[in-house]
Amino acid sequence: MCEDAPFVAGKIADAKLASSGRLSFEWAQARMAIVEKIRAKNERGLPLAGLRIGFCLHITKETSVLVMAAKTLGADVAICAANPLSAQDDIAAFLYEKGVDVYAWRGETKSEYEQCIKQVISFKPAIVTDDGGDLHVAAHRARAKSIVGGTEETTSGVKRLAVMEKQGRLMYPVIAVNNARTKYLFDNRHGTGQSTLDGILRATDVFLPGKRVIVCGYGWVGKGVASRARGMGAIVTVTEVDPVRALEAKMDGFEVTALSDASAYGDIFVTCTGQTGVIRKEHFAKMKDGAILANAGHFDVEIDADYLYNASRPAKVRPNVERFSISGKKLFLLSEGRVVNLVAAEGHPPEVMALSFANQLLSILHVAKNHYKMEPRVHAVPEKIDNDVARYALGAMGVRIDSITKEQRRYRDSS
Ligand SMILES: NC(=O)c1ccc[n+]([C@@H]2O[C@H](COP(=O)([O-])OP(=O)(O)OC[C@H]3O[C@@H](n4cnc5c(N)ncnc54)[C@H](O)[C@@H]3O)[C@@H](O)[C@H]2O)c1
Repeated sequence: MCEDAPFVAGKIADAKLASSGRLSFEWAQARMAIVEKIRAKNERGLPLAGLRIGFCLHITKETSVLVMAAKTLGADVAICAANPLSAQDDIAAFLYEKGVDVYAWRGETKSEYEQCIKQVISFKPAIVTDDGGDLHVAAHRARAKSIVGGTEETTSGVKRLAVMEKQGRLMYPVIAVNNARTKYLFDNRHGTGQSTLDGILRATDVFLPGKRVIVCGYGWVGKGVASRARGMGAIVTVTEVDPVRALEAKMDGFEVTALSDASAYGDIFVTCTGQTGVIRKEHFAKMKDGAILANAGHFDVEIDADYLYNASRPAKVRPNVERFSISGKKLFLLSEGRVVNLVAAEGHPPEVMALSFANQLLSILHVAKNHYKMEPRVHAVPEKIDNDVARYALGAMGVRIDSITKEQRRYRDSS
């Protein structure tokens, strides 16, 4: 792709892939009943009519369900990818065919990635929905006046917005979708747990039983990855910097130690911290011949890939696997250190993204209706939305729950 060519209402890899993208969209749509239910419930009033929404999300089949729902509710949409390597080109082509301004293809350079974000800002969106904060940050740099509010999908993005709020720089209200219980308890934990193992297995075809897996970080993502790896027969060690989370991992039955110790015996390392420079030169130096390195955190900063690329010429062993020679040993880096579940696999399955994107859709509707009375700060997802999403999900699964009795309510509310 030519880096500086002007983009006209969209730029994708190959429009001919649209029919394959449509089939994947339909596959996901059939498994995302909650999003469909919200769409159907709101369709009549066209609550997003005439509203411009700019999305910066991983372009997956699940994302196409959210985008098409927003379009059906009346929105005009532009979208770019939330990672240079995560876009699925057939989905991009499908959305483009449906009249969405898509600026995304798999394998964007850094400058193309930034250019695509700028295109979404030039679309003059009123609402921006981001995953990781790159669109929010770029919109602030551009002092984008069209934006009245937004939403944010992931932990790392919410962290950046919280810093901007603290510094008094946040220009519009943003709903932290990541922090809804019906988001992080399921998407971050179960979704990333399953899809990260899926990415590692698709990339490497490694046999997990008996392997030593080192999970760095025991937050929601780390908990999911650790439990899925253990469930597949791996011996799991957790590394942490937070003493409470380390204790939690220990009492959940995992080995817990410092990464400097675990470096010497790990077969597979997975970073899940949202921090920078977690696995570094001193750790690589201690690793066993054949160690595999994968990242599940949002940004490609957790494993010091720059050190690997500078220290050794990489050999491409198979798709998404590069081999480096470090201190006389072979180390294998997956997906260039970028989110392994989205680069080497397809991201989370539709059933779990239905929860996240139900929160997104309801939060977008909330911002559209209420932005004028919302302060420019990071807002929680309204509790009603969180509970409604759980109720829709239970309903879709045919699960019944109890309600508290009058007596229980009185007891709860008495001192
Ligand atoms: N791949 C995906 O699909 C996906 C999905 C959801 C979230 N994420 C991303 O994953 C990352 C983690 O998200 P989360 O919700 O689990 O966050 P979290 O804040 O719940 O957990 C992060 C944990 O990492 C620990 N940590 C920080 N620095 C560390 C270090 N140097 N060594 C060991 N542990 C360290 C923290 O103490 C914390 O317990 C974020 O970047 C988030 O945006 C990715």
